[in-house]
Amino acid sequence: MKKLILDLDTGVDDAQAIMVAIADPDVEILGITCCHGNTPLENVLKNTLRVLKVCKRLDIPVYRGCSTSLLGREQHAGDYHGKDGLGDVPDEDAPGLELLQKRKAAQALVKMVKENAGEVTLVATAPLTNLAVAVQLDPSLPKKLKALYIMGGNTESRGNTTVCGEFNFVADPEAAYIVLDRYTCPTYIATWEFSCRNSLPWSFCDAWLAQDTEKARFMEKIACLSMKKAQSADYQKEITEGKGFNSCDTYAVAAAIDDTFITESDEVAVSVELEGTYTRGMMVLDYMGLLQKKHKVFVMKQVDLEKFKQMFMNSLK
Ligand code: BDR
Repeated sequence: MKKLILDLDTGVDDAQAIMVAIADPDVEILGITCCHGNTPLENVLKNTLRVLKVCKRLDIPVYRGCSTSLLGREQHAGDYHGKDGLGDVPDEDAPGLELLQKRKAAQALVKMVKENAGEVTLVATAPLTNLAVAVQLDPSLPKKLKALYIMGGNTESRGNTTVCGEFNFVADPEAAYIVLDRYTCPTYIATWEFSCRNSLPWSFCDAWLAQDTEKARFMEKIACLSMKKAQSADYQKEITEGKGFNSCDTYAVAAAIDDTFITESDEVAVSVELEGTYTRGMMVLDYMGLLQKKHKVFVMKQVDLEKFKQMFMNSLK
């Protein structure tokens, strides 16, 4: 059994990532820690519970995390995910926040990792604020992790939020800096450009959503807005080069649950630009070793797309 903790800002692709993890019978989700990001934290919490309800997995503990970046800022991605983070589709029967755990996300991360030392794979698909706080609480936390998978950052300075910056890193550059500096466990990064290059063909997405299940009907509703946006001519031309839909966060989960999913990666030291008029929040890759950092991460380049499709299909069954 693979033990996973998911740190999310549940928007549409986080929802897809949760569903892929839940569908794998060899995965145990120890908990979901929520962070500000795609939408304000209160929506993130509600969205996470909505997804768990559809999956009939409200038994998975959900924790309230940071509501702003380390510097107290908030940035959201309502244009893509909807103001509520899940496509702005009303849900009268959303579970109430009384279902949340009492413990806060950073404390919960420290506790869960300590109790399962050496066994936990942490997957972070939000701004990295919760992880940055957790490592301040317990500097030995990274050593107790089996691995860390992150969705965030850039490889070619092609931004989706600022000219050069990817959303999760731009939303909290200081947290991303701390995490890339202090988490010295095996680390795998699914960047923005990588996810664009490995997008899912639209014909596959049609078949994926056409499944006659409650989960597929839920997904079709919540993904409608973001898929329309992703299908727009500009997005296709500039971002996925006409290929299809990139469910960014799901790559990180897929890589965490299947060791053979990543088919090509670069092992390189990385950091984050904290200043710069155009480049704040951009990930920098130190191929020449100029930063003299001992710790290198695996920057994902290619994945097994057929495996990805299979996981996607299964997630809505
Ligand atoms: C990342 O930003 C968010 O909008 C997505 O959920 C993903 O985590 C892509 O840059």
